Amino acid sequence: MIPALKLHDGHTVPCLGFGVWKASSGDCYNAVRTALDTGYRHIDTARIYGNEEDVGRAIRDSGIPRNDIFVTTKLWNSDQAKAQKAFDDSLARLGLDYIDLYLVHFPVTKTRVAAFAELEKIHATGKTRSIGVSNYMPAHLDELLKVCQVKPVVNQIELHPWLAQKELKAYCESRDIRIQAYSPLAHGQKTGDASLKPVADKHGKSIAQVLLRWSIQKGNIVLVKSVSPQRIQENFAIFDFELDAGDIQTLDALDSNLRTCWDPSATP
Ligand SMILES: NC(=O)c1ccc[n+]([C@@H]2O[C@H](COP(=O)([O-])OP(=O)(O)OC[C@H]3O[C@@H](n4cnc5c(N)ncnc54)[C@H](OP(=O)(O)O)[C@@H]3O)[C@@H](O)[C@H]2O)c1
Repeated sequence: MIPALKLHDGHTVPCLGFGVWKASSGDCYNAVRTALDTGYRHIDTARIYGNEEDVGRAIRDSGIPRNDIFVTTKLWNSDQAKAQKAFDDSLARLGLDYIDLYLVHFPVTKTRVAAFAELEKIHATGKTRSIGVSNYMPAHLDELLKVCQVKPVVNQIELHPWLAQKELKAYCESRDIRIQAYSPLAHGQKTGDASLKPVADKHGKSIAQVLLRWSIQKGNIVLVKSVSPQRIQENFAIFDFELDAGDIQTLDALDSNLRTCWDPSATP
């Protein structure tokens, strides 16, 4: 069982999620089946990933009760002016009756506020249990929190030791908005980082497992992607060890504003 974290709207979410960005349609179905067999109960997809059908089919074929799986998808930028239709289309592609979390994928300047208001309407129908945002900086959240009726439950952002996002994390957590940490392996760029080998060896774990464990111990909801069965299992085996204060200090010292995905900080 993966530990669950409570969202401010009362729903709970497994603290480790399985991401499927860049899992091609061919790979995605098998990867999600393997992830569910391994024990993951939280899947993160998006309209723009082009694999919602595979995610939905893998969930249905798994035989696991729908209520036991937390499913997230996201509203793509060019769909922000037609959020209801985009949501209906995502739900149809997933082949599900509801999703657990629907996110505004990116804070597009002109359309983001109205788009979130549409998410509030969808939320009121119960077809998504929770709503949130992704890639929002404090300025985007300041604007939203002034006008929203339903506060976002999460802000899904890039976060790993090289991009610890301390200010943004503190901002969100002080407002009861949980951090969903994407690209926890720095999009795969840091799984061979020599500076972390001693920490990994000390615990008999891989560097990838140390990176995931660091983010879990920071209280984040962590989203990791792999299409390899061996790595899917490796990334799941992180609940049987704990980093100590010295290890955490070693990882904290790596913070260096390394972005591997997009940078929303210049988006007005
Ligand atoms: N909201 C957003 O804007 C946003 C942006 C980016 C990501 N996300 C979400 O977050 C998820 C995770 O982020 P991510 O996919 O960018 O990056 P990530 O999980 O940090 O890294 C994935 C990469 O690392 C490799 N990998 C995975 N486990 C490994 C291991 N144990 N050892 C060595 N290599 C390993 C994977 O290759 P293999 O597949 O070949 O194993 C893949 O190339 C995404 O899939 C997506 O769901 C959201």
